[in-house]
Amino acid sequence: MDERIITNFELDEDKELNIRPANLDEYVGQSEIKENLRVFIKSAVMRGESLDHILLYGPPGLGKTTLAYIIANELGSNIKTASGPSIEKAGDLAAILSTLEEGDVLFIDEIHRIPRYVEEILYPAMEDFYLDIIVGSEGSSRNIKINLPRFTLVGATTRAGDLSSPLRDRFGIISKLNYYTEDELYQIIKRTSKVLDTPITDEAARELARRSRGTPRIANRLFKRIRDFALVYGNGIINEDILSSSLDKLKVDKTGLDETDHNLLLAIIERFNGGPVGLEALASSIGEESSTIEDVYEPYLLQQGYLKRTARGRIVTDKTYEYLKIEK
Ligand SMILES: Nc1ncnc2c1ncn2[C@@H]1O[C@H](COP(=O)(O)OP(=O)(O)OP(=O)(O)O)[C@@H](O)[C@H]1O
Ligand SMILES: [Mg+2]
Repeated sequence: MDERIITNFELDEDKELNIRPANLDEYVGQSEIKENLRVFIKSAVMRGESLDHILLYGPPGLGKTTLAYIIANELGSNIKTASGPSIEKAGDLAAILSTLEEGDVLFIDEIHRIPRYVEEILYPAMEDFYLDIIVGSEGSSRNIKINLPRFTLVGATTRAGDLSSPLRDRFGIISKLNYYTEDELYQIIKRTSKVLDTPITDEAARELARRSRGTPRIANRLFKRIRDFALVYGNGIINEDILSSSLDKLKVDKTGLDETDHNLLLAIIERFNGGPVGLEALASSIGEESSTIEDVYEPYLLQQGYLKRTARGRIVTDKTYEYLKIEK
């Protein structure tokens, strides 16, 4: 099994299979964000103006990209997409901005990865809708201003802290996505079951909701793998037996933690005496990228109280010892 259930990559299969909700009504949970967005979108439509720029942040797989597409859909606008890492030069950003049409949504994923000196081009574009670029070669170069149509920038990031404050300040709406409750994940799983035409019992859906790390992407990904087991070993219906044997095989435990979570917590206890340990030392001791630990694994462990961040590094908690059945 080398396909990882917990990753920070999106798979195209999500889109192909229509699992991704297309409008606010289908978008489960995040009710505060959703209700606010409804008002802002309606007001923008009533005023006949573009919606304020929106920054969405939170751990991977909680629905930032999905929400960006929904915003465009609800506005009745076209969406153009770009991602921070692919914007390396001022020209890259200028090229994207110059394709925009009135009312468009420009979605920039991983917006924190745009280099600082390129980012500055965004400021006047966001604030006053113009591009300020330098043309010509050294000696004969001059600044030219190009007007842009009014557009809405939707930025997404897993790391709001990495965003420069001038950029952050130019977003009129800043929303943090939170982990989903069991009930919300249950609804998402039931919906996925319909879309994929694979029945799941209520009990199994509840159990899967409990074991999905509060994350829709993980719930959907696990659902697809369990569907495979249900087809091959059962009659295609996902019940509690199929679910628990599949999750065992996928090494997802009763609380939804996986092998890497275990390794990480165990390493802190066994190799660093419970911590504090720095991120780099921890990463190299378990052979993971530090960014993967920081973006993907840690947020959930922190939220669940298995891990704490102190000024001197990460430490585990009493809950961790209890959970791993290790004497302190
Ligand atoms: N609120 C929701 N209701 C139903 N399904 C959802 C919801 N949010 C996310 N999903 C599902 O989870 C999948 C992952 O969501 P999405 O790709 O939008 O996450 P993301 O926050 O953009 O992640 P990343 O930070 O890795 O880019 C989507 O394909 C969608 O099927
Ligand atoms: Mg995304």
